[in-house]
Amino acid sequence: MGKVSILDVADMKLRGEKIAMITAYDYTTAQLADRAGIPMVLVGDSLGMVVLGYDSTIPVTMEDMLHHAKAVARGVKQSLIVVDLPFMSYQVDAAQGLANAGRLMQEGGAHSVKLEGGEKIASTVARIVDAGIPVMGHIGLTPQSVHGLGGYRVQGRQREQGEQLIRDALAQEDAGAYSVVLEVVPPQLAGLIPRQLKIPTIGIGPRSDCDGQVQASHDLLRAFTDFVPKHVKRYATLADPTQAAFTQYLEDVKQGLFPTKVHSISMDEPVFASLETP
Ligand code: KIV
Repeated sequence: MGKVSILDVADMKLRGEKIAMITAYDYTTAQLADRAGIPMVLVGDSLGMVVLGYDSTIPVTMEDMLHHAKAVARGVKQSLIVVDLPFMSYQVDAAQGLANAGRLMQEGGAHSVKLEGGEKIASTVARIVDAGIPVMGHIGLTPQSVHGLGGYRVQGRQREQGEQLIRDALAQEDAGAYSVVLEVVPPQLAGLIPRQLKIPTIGIGPRSDCDGQVQASHDLLRAFTDFVPKHVKRYATLADPTQAAFTQYLEDVKQGLFPTKVHSISMDEPVFASLETP
C-alpha cells in the first residue's frame, strides 16, 4: 500500500470497500495502526479524556492537538492522518478555522482536519477546503457540543432532528468535505445518509450501511476504563494485564527481585580496579 490520499478514500467508497479509521494519540500506537494497514488514523480530541484525564473534549486546546499530532505524524508512513480541530478553534469565524487548520497541517503534520457541525459550519468548511486543506465533517453526536445537546445521547431520533441531520450531511458535502463522520445516530439514518451522499460516510456507533467505521483505540483495546460506550467492540483487554504488571513490578522492586544480574551491564574489572576512590 502506498501513501493513502483522500482520492483513495473516495475510490474505496466507489469500489464498495469498507473504510476503517482508528484514533492514535502517540507515536507507538500510530506506528502499529499504520503497520496494520489501517487507511486513516485520527488524532481525535477524545485524547482530552483518555490521555489527559478531562471529563469532556471541551478543555482540549490547539497546543494539545499539535503536541499529539506531531507524535502521530512521526509514527505514520502510509495512513492518511486526520486531526481534530478542538473546541473554539473554528467556531468564531471561518478565518479562525482556516488559520488553525493551517497550523495542524503545517506544524502538526496532518493530511486533513476534522471539525464538528453541519449547516452552521459549512462556510468555514468551504473556506478551509478552498485553501487546499481536506476537511472531514462530523455530525450527529458532536461531543464538543455536549452541553448544548444536554448530554451524550443518540441524535436524530425525532423527525425534525433526522431531517436536520440529512441537511447537515449534505451541507458538508456541498461545502467540499471529502468525508463525514456520523456519530451515534439511529441505524436507519446511518443507512439513509450514505445513499444521499457521494462522499464516504464513516460511522461510529450505528450498525449501518456507512462506508466505514471509526473507533477510539483506547476503547477498542479496553485500555481506558472510566466508561465504555455501548458501540465499542473489545478487541483486547489491556487495562487488566497492565494493572497486574504494574503491581508485580512494585512487588519485585520492594522485595529486591528486580533488577537482577541479567538486567545490568558491568564495566570491565581492570577499569573498576583502577578507579581511585577517596
Ligand atoms: O475524537 C474522536 O476520537 C472522534 C471520534 C470520531 C472517535 O472524533
